Amino acid sequence: MSIKESKMTDPKVLAAQYYEDFNRFAGDLYPNRYSHIFCLQLAEQTLEIKRLAQEKNSKLAVHYYPPPEFHEIADKLGDSLALSRFINEAKSPRVDFQAVFFMAATAKMLAGDATRVFVSGGPEELGCSLVFGTDHIWLESWKRKNPEGLLITYINSDAYTKSISDFISTSRNTAQIIAHAATQYPGKKILVLPDKFLGYVMKAKAVEILEKKDFSIDPDLIEVYEQSFGGFNACCYVHEQFGHDAIEVAMIEHPEAVIMLHPECGCFSLCLSKLQQGIIPYEKAIIASTEQMIKFAESSESEEFIVSTEPGLLYALRKRLPDKKFIPVSAEAHCRYMKSNTFEKLIRSLKEDRMEVILCDNCKFCTNPKVTYRDERTIHIPREVANLVKPKIEIMNSFQ
Ligand code: 13P
Ligand code: SF4
Repeated sequence: MSIKESKMTDPKVLAAQYYEDFNRFAGDLYPNRYSHIFCLQLAEQTLEIKRLAQEKNSKLAVHYYPPPEFHEIADKLGDSLALSRFINEAKSPRVDFQAVFFMAATAKMLAGDATRVFVSGGPEELGCSLVFGTDHIWLESWKRKNPEGLLITYINSDAYTKSISDFISTSRNTAQIIAHAATQYPGKKILVLPDKFLGYVMKAKAVEILEKKDFSIDPDLIEVYEQSFGGFNACCYVHEQFGHDAIEVAMIEHPEAVIMLHPECGCFSLCLSKLQQGIIPYEKAIIASTEQMIKFAESSESEEFIVSTEPGLLYALRKRLPDKKFIPVSAEAHCRYMKSNTFEKLIRSLKEDRMEVILCDNCKFCTNPKVTYRDERTIHIPREVANLVKPKIEIMNSFQ
């Protein structure tokens, strides 16, 4: 039972529940973190957060990757697609995002002025290596060389990149969106960006979808962005670590387990080719987004799963399905950006109304849309950029 469902108001009772759940379901992922004292502190902070959120009329939107205590306070716990859709469902005057910045920015561009959106830090602290690994100058030159070409941009991208894109996608629906674009605009070149691993997985899946529909496409028309930029690769620095060796070792150690792989993982070529050659049967491995993994584990008859994604998801899986076994490929591969959310920062944000993501008009600070302006209290997105992005998010949200 989460704090949201319980009527718990005694911090000591809540602390005891936290101590048990966090150590039982996530002790191996956060070694030595959940002491009695820390759980009491988290319980007291939880009650304060709930009181402040009620006072500020705010809903708390939480991704699966921040630590377990965030799962317990969430009004909505979800993957990037679910969080983007939540802003419409919530109809709340305020939403506080406990995720990374691009997710909150996406929600703000969708909600417009109807909902105030807050985050607990700036775009660098709540960053993402995929956002940092996107080279605007390279993209603009691709567009010049391919004036008819289509950009299909993963949601893990900044507002400007989204604004120059033709489609936006998430880990749940990139393949369907590539297939849709290919049939709507036959013969046009498509660039899938910015994640090279996800790009190759989704290209292969899209070609499969198109083949099933008897739609023939030259696979060379679908290009995958592979640039590195400013010290970052065009990939998720966390999922990149789940390369060939880590997956092989996990599979040898747990031969009965089903393996669930996030499409951002660095093992895409090995796993896809093994799947395609039948070396790993399809029922023994799935490539799935964060939330698809939960649905798959719920409906699967298997008792054991190797989970190849950020370990934050394991707490949700284990708590929801306590009779099944979930083995992380790496218990240490935490996303430092997601983990930079803390209860202290959230309390400060709720108390002081900072940092707010705002849509600015004719703003003297936002003369270059490629650079995100922030000050002590606000992070700006130019309204004309948001207006270009909003219809594309609506299309993205309509794909499963
Ligand atoms: P999801 O779309 O699965 O939430 O993934 C977002 C992300 O950042 C994964 O690293
Ligand atoms: Fe970005 Fe990777 Fe962190 Fe997801 S896990 S937010 S893709 S750096």
